[in-house]
Amino acid sequence: MKAAQLGGFCFYICRMAEDLTIITGTKQEQYEALIPQIKGLLEGETDLIANLANIAGALREQFNWLWVGFYLVKKDELVLGPFQGPVACTRIKKGKGVCGSSWAQEKTLIVPDVEKFPGHIACSSASRSEIVIPILHHKEVVGVLDVDSKELNEFDVTDRVYLEQIVSLIPIY
Ligand code: SME
Repeated sequence: MKAAQLGGFCFYICRMAEDLTIITGTKQEQYEALIPQIKGLLEGETDLIANLANIAGALREQFNWLWVGFYLVKKDELVLGPFQGPVACTRIKKGKGVCGSSWAQEKTLIVPDVEKFPGHIACSSASRSEIVIPILHHKEVVGVLDVDSKELNEFDVTDRVYLEQIVSLIPIY
């Protein structure tokens, strides 16, 4: 097959550009450029794991955070889902750690210094700050998006607003 034919093949099979456009600029500008690309990645795809995997990949590629990933609610605990970064804890009980607390409280938690969060679960000793966003479906938490940074005070209200927007784009059936 010639290169041009291969390109056409990928156009039909891949249904998306393979490369993310990474931009520099303020945090807001980076999110504003990333969100349409995330919408493009999700378009027409109904598989939850595939979509979560691409969101984790896109966020990590743009922001170069230590760890970006999802935990999904299974019975009474969170179970590790698609992620990018170092290996992580596989199961977290409701109310435990930042992730389990975000689930129990049904709200986004920003932790400027993980050492000051009582009960923080240290999956990686390199993590210094963290944000966890609950994923709601029919008013129930079905999972969380967890992001860890090597820097203290990495996350603020801008991250909360945009990451909540990104989480709201996830199609859940
Ligand atoms: N620090 C989290 C555990 C998950 S890892 O950071 C990937 C917590 O306290 O819930």
